[in-house]
Amino acid sequence: MNLIFLGANGAGKGTQAKLLQEREGIPQISTGDILRAAMTDVRSPVGEEARKYVDRGELVPDDVMIAIIKTRLAEPDAARGFVLDGFPRTIPQARALDEWLSSRGRSLDAAVYFEARRETIIRRLTGRRVCRAAGHIYHMEYHPPRVEGRCDVDGSELYQRDDDSEETVRHRLEVYDRQTQPLVEYYRAQGILETIDAEADIEQMYQRLMQILTARTG
Ligand code: AP5
Repeated sequence: MNLIFLGANGAGKGTQAKLLQEREGIPQISTGDILRAAMTDVRSPVGEEARKYVDRGELVPDDVMIAIIKTRLAEPDAARGFVLDGFPRTIPQARALDEWLSSRGRSLDAAVYFEARRETIIRRLTGRRVCRAAGHIYHMEYHPPRVEGRCDVDGSELYQRDDDSEETVRHRLEVYDRQTQPLVEYYRAQGILETIDAEADIEQMYQRLMQILTARTG
């Protein structure tokens, strides 16, 4: 399956992509995780460039993101399928992805849109905690770790992302409305849009995702 996950920041895309990777073995390709890894590497010019945008809640320029995603999609694990989590985020990114796939005789199977209310999203993002070692995702209230401040999977420290402060979250949502929401219509027009009610709990959302994937693969 070649999938993309769409939807506002904090709607739960990363949580579901990680579950799909763990349970079905479909690789999660998160552009946010790729950028954060580059930003912690002091020798990475991409990380230095990305920091100027990510910490302010702005989008990293399209040419940088398109180059990153082409390199990542060319890796062997993505040859049999992938979940793109956080890419594309603009119409030029979506067009570049379509061209890259079609030049290799491939196409997207579904664009899954996670639909949630604004208040829900703000509560989810401001309560989010992420593990330092591998980016496992928690929420202080909705999905707390067993031991406070420590990842259940690898025991590493949990931290709050710099861009999850309420002020930056509000700005990210404005950027989302302006630049990313138009992709919903772009994929609807291609006939591959599927919608998930992202107000549901994590397991309910996963069940719905599995229904969609089963229907799409026949
Ligand atoms: P990125 O890391 O992709 O951030 P995002 O899109 O803002 O998405 P999030 O990771 O915030 O949300 P999510 O939907 O994955 O939610 P999650 O599952 O964590 O990007 C960061 C930055 O990088 C961007 O701002 C931009 O600067 C740059 N960037 C990345 N890609 C780019 C691109 N293509 N072009 C340009 N720039 C790019 O869940 C959120 C919280 O809710 C968690 O705490 C979780 O535990 C909880 N939760 C999840 N599901 C549920 C549920 N069902 N019920 C209750 N709680 C839940």
